[in-house]
Amino acid sequence: MENKWDHFYKKSYEQRLSLIAEAANLSKAQLDLLGRSLNPRSGELIENNLTDYPLPEGIAVGLVVNGHEHLVPMVTEEPSVIAAASNGAKLLSAGAGIHCSVPDNLVSGQVIVKDADPHQVTKFVHDYQQQLIQIADQSHPSVLKYGGGAKGLDVRILSKQFLSVDLLVDTGEAMGANIINTMLEAVSNWLSEQLTVETTMAILTNFADKAIVEVSGKVAMAKLGTKSLSGPQVAQKIADASQIAQLDIRRATTHNKGIMNGVDAAVMAFGNDWRAVESAAHAFAARSGSYQGLSTWEIDEDQLVGRMSLPVPIGFVGGASKVLPLAGINKQIAQIDNSREEMQVVAALGLAQNLAALKALVTDGIQKGHMNLQLRSLALSNGTTMQELPVVVQKLQGMDHPSSQTVKEILKILRR
Ligand code: MEV
Repeated sequence: MENKWDHFYKKSYEQRLSLIAEAANLSKAQLDLLGRSLNPRSGELIENNLTDYPLPEGIAVGLVVNGHEHLVPMVTEEPSVIAAASNGAKLLSAGAGIHCSVPDNLVSGQVIVKDADPHQVTKFVHDYQQQLIQIADQSHPSVLKYGGGAKGLDVRILSKQFLSVDLLVDTGEAMGANIINTMLEAVSNWLSEQLTVETTMAILTNFADKAIVEVSGKVAMAKLGTKSLSGPQVAQKIADASQIAQLDIRRATTHNKGIMNGVDAAVMAFGNDWRAVESAAHAFAARSGSYQGLSTWEIDEDQLVGRMSLPVPIGFVGGASKVLPLAGINKQIAQIDNSREEMQVVAALGLAQNLAALKALVTDGIQKGHMNLQLRSLALSNGTTMQELPVVVQKLQGMDHPSSQTVKEILKILRR
């Protein structure tokens, strides 16, 4: 029997919308909102598209990377993240700024071979290396135009049954998922023909250990002092926090989540695949066999020094960035011209975000900043104007359980 959702993808946009409206009992106003939010080009990216889902975008200021100051567009729904990023950026940029380098920018992938003789496959891959590289390149020849292409293959024995033939590719300015997957399928077909072996799959790996950004930054300890703690005391507490993230998976996960608050927000603003960056980062954090903090902070004379190695597998061209016009504008705002700069800005922002989070945690605690934003939004959503805002927020800060009613009462007195 025909189900009304069968061949949903073949229906027109209007037909899909009316089916959903009926099933979910959507009002006219709700339908209008879905329609207003729709970017007609989104259908070029995804299937069954209904609308576009907007998230807030803001700008982190003052991030100095390798001597260049960047404004960084960030897409996030979380209060305090952008303020914290700017804060961390300011601290790290006061001295020499943040230093970043990208030793390699390569994508890797694997062809899994089943029930084959490991010595035969290993010998074959080494003996026919050049031919395999050619087969990979010919399956996607446009990579050769910019000097990219397959760079080498290796074999790893995973178990008695499975081998992984690993391919490394320079995909230039693209993130390269399509390029490498095409190449891997060509390599897989050729291997199974030549060796009469079964290949289980051919796919890139998100373990992006050949797309690492090395990032470091210093803050003069004197700049870290608060009302109740001296700069060196705060620096020592941040160094302690970093050590705890090396010791304990529970803290390491949250420590890294703080880094990814910045990383993901920028990766999204630049129109890249943030799940790829997320999975790469967390897998890299567990590369020693235990999951650890991605960054470390240590005291060196009068400075607090942060270091991080972070995989940032993103591209400057291609992918969704073609269809998402804001991604292009955001790259222009950030003043980045190529994928290495893009990777560096993202990683530097992650370190700045981490510093701000740790500083808040070991001094005032995280709730203070959050609370202020919540009070601002409570005040604004109850009719406070921008001029009245500082006074209203100050009054709300002194109260135990501020509510909409409290705001209205404060405004009544203020406007008399
Ligand atoms: C909140 O989104 C992120 C933090 O929890 C990060 C951290 O604890 O380091 C503040």
